[in-house]
Amino acid sequence: MNNVIDFINTHRDRYVDELKQYLAIPSISALPEHKADVRRTAEWSTEEMRRIGLQNVRLIETPGFPVVYGDWLGAQGAPTILFYGHYDVQPVDPLELWESPPFEATVRDGEIYARGAADDKGQVFMHFKAIEAHLKQNGRLPVNMKIILEGEEEVGSANLDNFVKDHRDELKADVVVISDSPMFDRGIPSICYGLRGLVYFQIDLRGTKSDLHSGSFGGAVANPAFVLANVLAQMKDRGGHVKIPGFYDDVRELREEERDQWKRLPFNEKRYAKELGAPRLFGETGYSTLERVWARPTFEVNGILSGFTGEGAKTVIPAVAMAKVSMRLVPNQDPDKIAQLFEDHIKKVAPKTVDVKVTRMHGGKPWMTEFDNKFVQAAGRAIEKGFGKTPVFNREGGSIPVVATFQEILGLPSVLFGVGLPDENAHAPNEKLDLGNFHGGIIASAYLYDEVAKG
Ligand code: BES
Ligand code: MN
Ligand code: MN
Repeated sequence: MNNVIDFINTHRDRYVDELKQYLAIPSISALPEHKADVRRTAEWSTEEMRRIGLQNVRLIETPGFPVVYGDWLGAQGAPTILFYGHYDVQPVDPLELWESPPFEATVRDGEIYARGAADDKGQVFMHFKAIEAHLKQNGRLPVNMKIILEGEEEVGSANLDNFVKDHRDELKADVVVISDSPMFDRGIPSICYGLRGLVYFQIDLRGTKSDLHSGSFGGAVANPAFVLANVLAQMKDRGGHVKIPGFYDDVRELREEERDQWKRLPFNEKRYAKELGAPRLFGETGYSTLERVWARPTFEVNGILSGFTGEGAKTVIPAVAMAKVSMRLVPNQDPDKIAQLFEDHIKKVAPKTVDVKVTRMHGGKPWMTEFDNKFVQAAGRAIEKGFGKTPVFNREGGSIPVVATFQEILGLPSVLFGVGLPDENAHAPNEKLDLGNFHGGIIASAYLYDEVAKG
């Protein structure tokens, strides 16, 4: 291993230059005008994977963006890692809040700023460099490796479940490795053993066929903006409990020992609130902040649109109102079942004075693994070697829907080996990746393959 680590330390600066090229392609999967860029990023990924010595590298077409595939299968008798990552990124708006252009990666104070720096190109690239170091120095990897990169993660992975089903045999492996999450805190590496699931909806209300003069008609018809506010207000009570009947039925309660472990994590609520700029934290009563985010389901309003919002005043009753809402789910909640409960509840609470349309969008199942799994333990040892610190074991509030698919379709455990940070600004302006974490992550990934091989 020493020669591999030496190689990584020697090439530190080159890695940053190369990562900048990857980050320069605006692979925004949500926006049609970036279609060609997303594809170009898939192609760039294949070229890089060939450069570092992977084999059978190719694009596999799906009805959406292609899956990038590559492997190295020369470690006879050793376990096989299925590595998953995504090469697409989130939109960049509001652009004016970026301190440097989102697709011109810029290093400031030891962090590289760009859309995709942490989520997820930077963390994918870290594995490319770990693989390259092994292959260039030793001509081999300690494990077999299959890599799939997706271009639709940020828009809900609509084609990935079918891809996994259709390629069940080619994807045979012993463990999935994913680096697409933050670590617990700066200087505190972690292995993540749980993610929340998601159901997402758009709600459209229509009151009348057109906007109305609020003087001539105010008092005669319901105002859809008002109705929407009322409907949303009935989704959650003042204590932060979701009021949809049956919503909590399948929620697995936190184990006492898990609660105790989390209480011992170095987490400072005051500092957390201050960093978020929140006057006060808010969440479900009876649970700590970490418990609320990692182990409790939520209902959120992601956006609201209605009526006149320009400068000045306009006396109008809007014809329509719209909201995007979503629920984060925890084990053992089922997205389909929760979706049904939500739709039933909306129908019950919405008055007959407006037309209501509820459209279900993407989502995914929650996921959790046992952290005494031998691969999770191997990941713990690897991250400790890369960062010189014992990791903590945590859960996360975000969602990676395919993790549950890997479990169900392929029967595989996943190791979430993320080196982002809670303040990485994922999905927000000024997304960044700490270059110390990037470098430590390359070393830790190189060790990970070795530790997985040891079993
Ligand atoms: N990398 C994130 C998932 C993530 C975020 C894991 C924070 C752990 C902590 C991923 O790219 C993402 O944004 N997922 C979406 C899923 C959705 C589009 C189905 C999410 O969580 O909103
Ligand atoms: Mn991601
Ligand atoms: Mn994301």
